[in-house]
Amino acid sequence: MLKIESIYKTFNAGTVNEKTALNGVSLHLKEGDFVTVIGGNGAGKSTLLNAVAGVWPADEGTITIGGVDVTRLPEHKRARYIGRVFQDPMMGTAATMQIEENLALAARRGKRRFLGAGITKAEREEYREMLKLLDLGLEDRMTSKVGLLSGGQRQALTLLMASLVKPKLLLLDEHTAALDPKTAAKVLAATETIVQRDHLTTLMITHNMRDAIAHGNRLIMMYEGRVALDISGEEKKKLTVEDLLAKFGQATGSDEADDKLLLG
Ligand SMILES: Nc1ncnc2c1ncn2[C@@H]1O[C@H](COP(=O)(O)OP(=O)(O)OP(=O)(O)O)[C@@H](O)[C@H]1O
Ligand SMILES: [Mg+2]
Repeated sequence: MLKIESIYKTFNAGTVNEKTALNGVSLHLKEGDFVTVIGGNGAGKSTLLNAVAGVWPADEGTITIGGVDVTRLPEHKRARYIGRVFQDPMMGTAATMQIEENLALAARRGKRRFLGAGITKAEREEYREMLKLLDLGLEDRMTSKVGLLSGGQRQALTLLMASLVKPKLLLLDEHTAALDPKTAAKVLAATETIVQRDHLTTLMITHNMRDAIAHGNRLIMMYEGRVALDISGEEKKKLTVEDLLAKFGQATGSDEADDKLLLG
């Protein structure tokens, strides 16, 4: 479903601020793979997701989504394949519109039917069922303006919207990091439910090693613009935080994992 082949990205090339953020990353995801991504600050995690989404062109390498070579496609043309949720709860929803209007907009993505035609009763029922799943009480507030919601509620709504029209890829960049622990757990549980139900191919960045271990069928750790660890199957199921730290040390020859990942 996703083939990332030898991607390189250097920012501010030729200046004192030159930074190679991706240094030959290759990664293949099968349909339905749920991959958690960890790594210290500046390891290149967000840059990897941005490369897939087409925020800017990569310097070298190719990216294929569901068999389509998107390497030269601009962001808005790749958007039809991709659902994204970022760290910032203010992004991804329209604050001045109602919850049901936001959902209706997401449902009409890439279609010719716009909101002008109104939301049907059947659609409203469908949205109510989806919102129930989040367990945040939003199903009773469907005509509330999104700007009135809490960060966690908005983030959960963004997640629903990103997955409403089943995307080929779901990209989550620390989407629970700005939330209080209880809400973060609810949004993470909703993520798990949606990803499993729709069999979504997913990349989820997190700074929480326990979340990275608990979710998904595969875990990658990035270090200095490369994939330093790639763990899946039975090995992933048995994994502990201690294993992860030890493996990180072996793979990179570095012992910075403790500070940078556990405390970072
Ligand atoms: N648009 C940009 N312009 C210049 N430098 C950038 C840009 N985006 C990322 N970088 C740099 O590339 C490196 C990798 O950044 P990236 O955001 O991918 O890290 P990250 O692994 O997501 O870290 P964090 O855990 O802090 O979010 C960093 O040194 C960062 O400063
Ligand atoms: Mg990041």
